[in-house]
Amino acid sequence: MLEVSPGIVPVIPVDREAATPLHRQVYAGFRDAILRGDLAAGQQVPSSRALAAELDISRFPVLDAYAQLLAEGYFKSRVGAGTFVATSLPHQPAHPKRPTEESAASRRTSRRSMLFPPYDPVPWRHGWGAFGVHQPALDHFPFDLWSKLLARHSRSLRIHTNNNLHPLGLLPFREAICSYLRTARAVRCDPGQIMVVSGSQQALDIVTRVLLDPGDSAWIEEPCYPLVRSLLLGSGSKPVPVPVDDDGLDVDAGARLAPNARVAFVTPSHHYALGVTMSASRRFQLLEWSRRSESWIVEDDYDSEYRFDSMPIPSLQGLDSCDRVLYIGTFSKVLRPSLRLGYIVIPADLVDRFAAVRFSMDIFPSYLFQEALTDFMHDGHFARHIRRMRSLYKARRAALVESLSAECGDLLTIQGSEAGMHLTVTLPESITTQRESLRTLPESFKGAICDVQIATRAAKDKLWLWPLSPCYSAEPRRHGFLLGFGNTPEDQMPAAVRRLRQAIAH
Ligand SMILES: Cc1ncc(COP(=O)(O)O)c(C=O)c1O
Repeated sequence: MLEVSPGIVPVIPVDREAATPLHRQVYAGFRDAILRGDLAAGQQVPSSRALAAELDISRFPVLDAYAQLLAEGYFKSRVGAGTFVATSLPHQPAHPKRPTEESAASRRTSRRSMLFPPYDPVPWRHGWGAFGVHQPALDHFPFDLWSKLLARHSRSLRIHTNNNLHPLGLLPFREAICSYLRTARAVRCDPGQIMVVSGSQQALDIVTRVLLDPGDSAWIEEPCYPLVRSLLLGSGSKPVPVPVDDDGLDVDAGARLAPNARVAFVTPSHHYALGVTMSASRRFQLLEWSRRSESWIVEDDYDSEYRFDSMPIPSLQGLDSCDRVLYIGTFSKVLRPSLRLGYIVIPADLVDRFAAVRFSMDIFPSYLFQEALTDFMHDGHFARHIRRMRSLYKARRAALVESLSAECGDLLTIQGSEAGMHLTVTLPESITTQRESLRTLPESFKGAICDVQIATRAAKDKLWLWPLSPCYSAEPRRHGFLLGFGNTPEDQMPAAVRRLRQAIAH
């Protein structure tokens, strides 16, 4: 039964014109709400005076109704405390009827909603601990400072920020993002091109709405971040998987597979999932393709802050002289995913379209976080935090690589470990074939026999291995795991890797 906050007056429908007397209406309103389970056992009900005022009726019918409900055992009164819904009711609340298969047909939802792959609450996504992907070192986040900034902005009610509902987001925040992107990522932009969004996932959604029509083709990387594929399928467009090799997306292959694609979705700084950085020649080739074919490039720069062994690689957007790249970034990795803040850098001539689409969606994320984060950035905390996390993650990554080499050198091959908060390891093909007898997998993982199976089992032991094979759109070429190292201290890494080995060898 749901807990209901005290002081909330339940909806008791009364009609003064109806033939049924008011006291019967109030009585029936409460009884039905209790039997439906809308009012919880033990919950306090409003005083007769408060309810009469709320319903704008005299107090007498309310008193009559309460007396009847008390007499029938729906209410209990406690002297000095008030009136409550009885804890043992005269009838059990009826359970809502579940739609039968037959009636399900009459409860049909849109064809569009059916295009999305089913929501699969896979276990490894929801655990916090060793190898969880996208999990920052929360114990190193300056929570005291962050709380102070939030408190300061919660207290100061700025009229202009409360009335200025701009679909691009809060201007000072966009200015701070702009200055960071110009300096740290060589993105060419001004604040008028930046739209604040609730994470890069929403950015991908908005970009898809603006750039693609149902039936349009779009290149995605093979393997790719699976939610890009889901989003495109859901929009009715056609995701075309384009292979990724050691130089990043194979542009020639893309041009052969879908020459008329409208958009290419890429992660050039740190390929999701193999960790490759797109080479300079591929970057120019991709830009040239987009110029020639008048298509768009969506650059998802999801964890660009963390590069360990070399200088940061400037953004693809910064190389583009034709304004054909849309740049997406997020605060999910530097701060945390639950904050839900990210941004899109939009080519200047498309800003109005983006604003039009956004204005009919959620308009923008809460100003409170935008204001606090603006200060966090202005006052230098953001840059300091990135610097600190870079050296922390560098040490954690080194500990992971060392433990993997010591414990699993014969079993796992490390892919692309020079950036981000996770690295990828691949399994030898022999393991994959040996395990083909195991096949109790969810529908959406058809073809992914090995790594999904291991990850499912490991999750039962609270080891969060993200399998690689679901990142493939077609038959997976490799099995393996994305191993997050952000939230695992160095001294815990060897033990975690030993558990990883046991999980695979099981
Ligand atoms: C490649 C990539 N793009 C987009 C996202 C979405 O991130 P968020 O919506 O938290 O910003 C993620 C999630 O981690 C990701 O890995």
